[in-house]
Amino acid sequence: MAVDLLLGLQWGDEGKGKIVDVLTKDYDIIARFQGGPNAGHTLEFDGIKHVLHTIPSGIFHKNAVNVVGNGVVIDPVIFKKELQALEGFGLDLSSTLLISRKAHLILPTHRLLDAASETAKGKAKIGSTLKGIGPTYMDKTGRNGLRVGDLELDDWKEKYRALANKHEAMINFYNVDIQYNLAELEADFFDSIGALKALPFIDSEEYLHQAQKAGKKILAEGAQGSLLDIDFGTYPFVTSSNTTAAGACTGLGVAPNRIKEVMGIFKAYTTRVGSGPFPTELFDQDGETMGRVGNEFGATTGRPRRCGWLDLVALKYAVNINGVTQLMMMKGDVLSGFEKLKVCTAYNYKGNKITHLPYNIEAQNVTPIYTEMDGWQEDLTQMSAAAQLPKALNDYIAFLEAELQVPIKIVSVGPDRKQTIHR
Ligand code: GDP
Ligand code: IMO
Ligand code: MG
Repeated sequence: MAVDLLLGLQWGDEGKGKIVDVLTKDYDIIARFQGGPNAGHTLEFDGIKHVLHTIPSGIFHKNAVNVVGNGVVIDPVIFKKELQALEGFGLDLSSTLLISRKAHLILPTHRLLDAASETAKGKAKIGSTLKGIGPTYMDKTGRNGLRVGDLELDDWKEKYRALANKHEAMINFYNVDIQYNLAELEADFFDSIGALKALPFIDSEEYLHQAQKAGKKILAEGAQGSLLDIDFGTYPFVTSSNTTAAGACTGLGVAPNRIKEVMGIFKAYTTRVGSGPFPTELFDQDGETMGRVGNEFGATTGRPRRCGWLDLVALKYAVNINGVTQLMMMKGDVLSGFEKLKVCTAYNYKGNKITHLPYNIEAQNVTPIYTEMDGWQEDLTQMSAAAQLPKALNDYIAFLEAELQVPIKIVSVGPDRKQTIHR
């Protein structure tokens, strides 16, 4: 049985959590393949909103097992809080949430290093969520990291100490004013390790291999979005993992030829949280309306998200890199009431019209070229079937499908599980 992927095509927060939750009924296993608690995946049903950071978004369904893959970085402190929140809803996770031994651990000092690095950068800061993601992946590729499987060894505290001591020296090297009480942070960390150890640690690549052989249906859940990919995103304003389809292979140990559907999620407009270039960003009333109606505040940090028109140049780039076979368009309801909509179909790049994403997309190099379309006025949030969608929205969808050459299979018209239209 093949593995399907679901990933974000923009700068994150496309609605991955909602759609994974909607699709989980058709899968046996949901597996997160990269990122860490910099992610905030929101699910809404029965009038309650849940935000997940590390735990896969299939966790509310009894039919599926959830796997935290080797490509994920885990902060035990945040992880414990997530577990407690879920247990508050009566979920018993002791056999439905499995953790890869090869996943790396975020230490308290990784978080401090993140803060020191951002402070030292000043105006050039990445706008990191400060969850220690960059420093943890640096230790992973630098071959210094502490992994979940190490917690089963007798000497893991010595390994921890050696790494934390090195981090302290590095924090001092930055020579910035970071206030912290390491003893307190460590007490919290060691206490939280206990909650992590209560869950099964597995060789997740072998588990997923056997599951495929047994005909189980697997959905790989991405975090962040393609434009935040360490290689293909708007470097250096990116995260520190491969958020694109290839990241699912290395983040789970799934071979490329086992992957079947690649589901790409995008908003009907664009948002970005943190620093970095954003060609279609709006600074006017339209952008303000998107942010207000779309409730565009980060699920992890609460920061306002920057808003702008849909960028098809960037979206095509993401579709190509990921090999997207199906698209899902989110938040169409947020655009209800706009008389006219703009879609960026090309860039003016240093005086020339181009239709591919160039190396530099900073404002001094790139001006978006827009195609204008009619908006729709109808409230979409109560609609439940494709036949109910207004003509202007169907025209918008048809235009995007023609440009991207990939079908839009889901149109989401609100945050709730039920506000999902299949086409
Ligand atoms: P993720 O990181 O990709 O899982 O996305 P987030 O959960 O961070 O951000 C998406 C936000 O949009 C959340 O607040 C969702 O509840 C909300 N959302 C998802 N789909 C829709 C939709 O179709 N319409 C509206 N209005 N909100 C949506
Ligand atoms: P989900 O999975 C949106 C952004 C941060 C910052 C940059 C680097 O919810 O879509 P990091 O913490 O990795 O050092 O931050 O990436 N970022 C996200 N933006 N959604 C996310 O995750 C994000 N995870 C990181 O805002 O600009
Ligand atoms: Mg999010």
